[in-house]
Amino acid sequence: MAKIKIHFRCSECGADHLRWSGKCSSCGLWNTLIEAETQERPSPSAGTRRRLAVPTVTDSRDLIGSGAVKPIRTGSFEFDRALGGGVMPGSVMLVGGEPGIGKSTLLSQFAVSVSNAGLRCLYISAEESQSQVGDRISRVGGMVASVGVLVASMMGDIEGQIDSFQPDAVIVDSVQTVYDPELTSSAGSVNQVRECTMRLSDLAKSAGFALLLVGHVTKDGNLAGPRSLEHLVDTVAYFEGDRDSSLRILRVVKHRFGPVGDLGMFEMGAEGLMDLDNATGIHLSDRVVGQSGSVVFPSLDGRRVMLTEIQALVVPTSGDQPRRVATGFDLNRVLLLIAVLEKKAGIRLFNKDVYVSVTGGMRLSDPSADLAVVAAIVSSLNDRPVDPSAVFLGEIGLGGEIRSASSSRQRASEAARLGFNTGFVGRSFACDIDGFSPHRSTDLRSALAGAGLHFS
Ligand code: TYD
Ligand code: MG
Repeated sequence: MAKIKIHFRCSECGADHLRWSGKCSSCGLWNTLIEAETQERPSPSAGTRRRLAVPTVTDSRDLIGSGAVKPIRTGSFEFDRALGGGVMPGSVMLVGGEPGIGKSTLLSQFAVSVSNAGLRCLYISAEESQSQVGDRISRVGGMVASVGVLVASMMGDIEGQIDSFQPDAVIVDSVQTVYDPELTSSAGSVNQVRECTMRLSDLAKSAGFALLLVGHVTKDGNLAGPRSLEHLVDTVAYFEGDRDSSLRILRVVKHRFGPVGDLGMFEMGAEGLMDLDNATGIHLSDRVVGQSGSVVFPSLDGRRVMLTEIQALVVPTSGDQPRRVATGFDLNRVLLLIAVLEKKAGIRLFNKDVYVSVTGGMRLSDPSADLAVVAAIVSSLNDRPVDPSAVFLGEIGLGGEIRSASSSRQRASEAARLGFNTGFVGRSFACDIDGFSPHRSTDLRSALAGAGLHFS
């Protein structure tokens, strides 16, 4: 008979505890421990579940070259780029995102592409009908027959079908709707989702297929129920975007086989997701060139450069107190930069309202945007536009000194690629980039004078 063990599990992070306590010692949240039961289940019948190979010790010399497994190309340059080459066979990837953002579309396109490349791909949907999945696959340009489509939500059925299909890649859409009736916990609960993920992941590792799991994200930004799923899988990627715009970003936050922080950028269209190969300049498309108060900053999102417009508007104060407003940038940082401008460059702003805005809905927390913010403020104050083909890059210290930015070479080369052939940078900027002439400055005063903004 199956033995039942009682313990307590955190509903937020999924950590197990032997005893109840008010606070989860793993994630630090209060009142999240709930009583959970683990059933030690009888081992499944041989037909429904592959047994993991019995572990054996191997001489390390025999393993040389055994890691040369090639990633499966996803068929999308941007998807491959986010993953550092593609999806590894035998690996487990979790694609999280809000409902309706395009996870099923992304993975349908993956399914079509790998199937067209001659691999066997099984798309398991636990929340849509076969015709809905088929329609989406044909909408994104695939032959419906080339992808295996299975509508199932019970683990036993899924394991059995995977066994007989012998896939190279399996998509489970979504992991939160898959359940095992043999477990006492209800479908969709943390226990169910964890257990099903672990079993599917064991199967992927032993049979060597790539497993892609869809996970819905709740309103508070967590993967529904268990953030704990994140440590059960090899790769975690979030699909993000604003439903009112067509821009979609795939952000890899955990990756055992490559770099993290890389992004894939897409545009959602009538025929699915298109790679955005020139995303670097996407935030500049509506920029009015030659306007005072507008400055371009090469920001870094993950490991990707995005040219971003920073705007400032400086107007005489109408009330008693000058107003300072910042959108997409830390207001305290703006106040600090205004103080440095007053003290170190003699620019008087005490009777001016200052508005700073980062366009395109971007949020910048990178201190190397300081010089661009300051240039935008002074440009608006003097009503004098900056050189439209220049970027501004550097952190400003309290002494008015300009410090160099991280990844300067990468930022400057991307700027040069998009036609920004000059840049105002810190003195230690040492990169030699074709088509990019840097104006190096030690301090704020000389940088502003070099940009034609301030002559005092
Ligand atoms: P979907 O992939 O179903 O989102 P998720 O799986 O994350 O819930 O995509 C949902 C939205 O995308 C839906 O509003 C319709 C839109 N869409 C397109 O605009 N073009 C397309 O080609 C497809 C397939 C969907
Ligand atoms: Mg979906």
